[in-house]
Amino acid sequence: MTSVRELIGSRADGRRVVIKAWVRTKRETKNATFLEINDGSCFSNLQCVFDGDAGAGIATAMEKATTGASVAVGGTLVESPAAGQPVELKADSLEVIGVAPVDSYPLQKKAHSLEFLRGIAHLRPRTNTFGAIARMRNQMAFAVHSFFQERGFNYVHTPIITASDCEGAGEMFQATTLDLDALAKNGGPVDYSKDFFGKKSYLSVSGQLNVETYCMALGKVYTFGPTFRAENSNTTRHLAEFWMIEPEIAFAELPDNMALAEEFVKYLLSWALDRCREDIEFFDKRVQPGLIAMLESVRSSRFAHMTYTDAVKELVAHEEIFEFKPYWGCDLQTEHERYLSETIVKGPVIVTDYPKEIKAFYMRLNDDGKTVRAMDVLVPIIGEIIGGSEREYRYDVLLARIRELGLDEKAYWWYLDLRRFGTAPHAGFGLGFERLMRYVTGIENIRDVIPFPRAVKQAEF
Ligand code: 4AD
Ligand code: MG
Repeated sequence: MTSVRELIGSRADGRRVVIKAWVRTKRETKNATFLEINDGSCFSNLQCVFDGDAGAGIATAMEKATTGASVAVGGTLVESPAAGQPVELKADSLEVIGVAPVDSYPLQKKAHSLEFLRGIAHLRPRTNTFGAIARMRNQMAFAVHSFFQERGFNYVHTPIITASDCEGAGEMFQATTLDLDALAKNGGPVDYSKDFFGKKSYLSVSGQLNVETYCMALGKVYTFGPTFRAENSNTTRHLAEFWMIEPEIAFAELPDNMALAEEFVKYLLSWALDRCREDIEFFDKRVQPGLIAMLESVRSSRFAHMTYTDAVKELVAHEEIFEFKPYWGCDLQTEHERYLSETIVKGPVIVTDYPKEIKAFYMRLNDDGKTVRAMDVLVPIIGEIIGGSEREYRYDVLLARIRELGLDEKAYWWYLDLRRFGTAPHAGFGLGFERLMRYVTGIENIRDVIPFPRAVKQAEF
């Protein structure tokens, strides 16, 4: 079937076509009616021009061809006299397939706020903004696979249901088939051996622990899937369900990991700039002026490197500007992360060697005994876009760390086995796909870059 994208990209050779799409706008003048139609294949609409004397059949159909209606338009492809579009359809037939009554269809010609559109997430992909986001999301997912496939990584499908807490932060959704209503009535302790999996189980916060097992066999691997966090944070950066890309490389240390992360981010930005031109130009014009220039400068820059200790020194020197006063040992807040990348470095920065107390149990301990080989990639506006580390590959040290943190060492028996049999230095990171989407679109709220956001008190649609 012909698409608008194909027609706009082809020559105005006078051939007759029939195209099916949805009406974006209708404009009637004395001599002609102009229907702008869009089928989602690209940002642009196809303009269909109907002569004023097109006949009674078309006039009747035209009354129903209002914004949102689905239509089939027939006509010949001609050069367009109008600016900004190479071709248009000189239309001679119109069929309305599905109406969208003006008095009840929520999307009308005027601009709607993103907040309003969040309330109609089932209809918002029909707008310019959400159509562009959806096409870019598709492209960026393709770019992720393309990057790793070109480099010989194997895509590993890690489980969504798990019995272990990867990040050890306890922010997990429980997965259970126990009858909670009955349990509440009966009181008493819950017997999880009666639960579906015979033990307490959760939705995974990260595929990392599982992907590490394949890393210790295939060398270069990645996982890319949905992850779940029951963080009670109502921000523009957090979702309860988000997608994460997690590569893991064997016989690799922190500098290899940092280099991979930098190469990956630049590859993704290049893809957005080169393959999503029409959509990204829209974001540049309407959402974040200067977006394209900013992304272009990042792709040709070198990411700065800084240790956590140096980063905190910079922050403490300007502590008066922060709501949360920085000190050595504090978890960096978004305001700190943004200050480091926006003001100090003026671009992306990789911060390394964080205090072990604020990072996960699996990170390799430095010789100072105080810091771990962690790395966060911070970028302007977004703050943390990537979190990763070199892994603790020494059995004794890892076990001691698990005990020190009071984690249930039995639950990690298989993870510890990786350190008992053929252990090797390895490293990896996680890129939040929706944080990336905010970065390449300039869209402020993370709930607008995923089709159906899941967040605190929000699971509609
Ligand atoms: O820093 P995080 O928690 O790291 C991990 O999960 C590691 N297991 C990754 C690894 O080393 N394989 O999360 C990684 C990234 C963050 O940098 C952020 O981009 C994103 O995931 N992220 C979120 N995105 C949206 N909503 C949330 N609630 C997020 N939490 C983390
Ligand atoms: Mg993190």
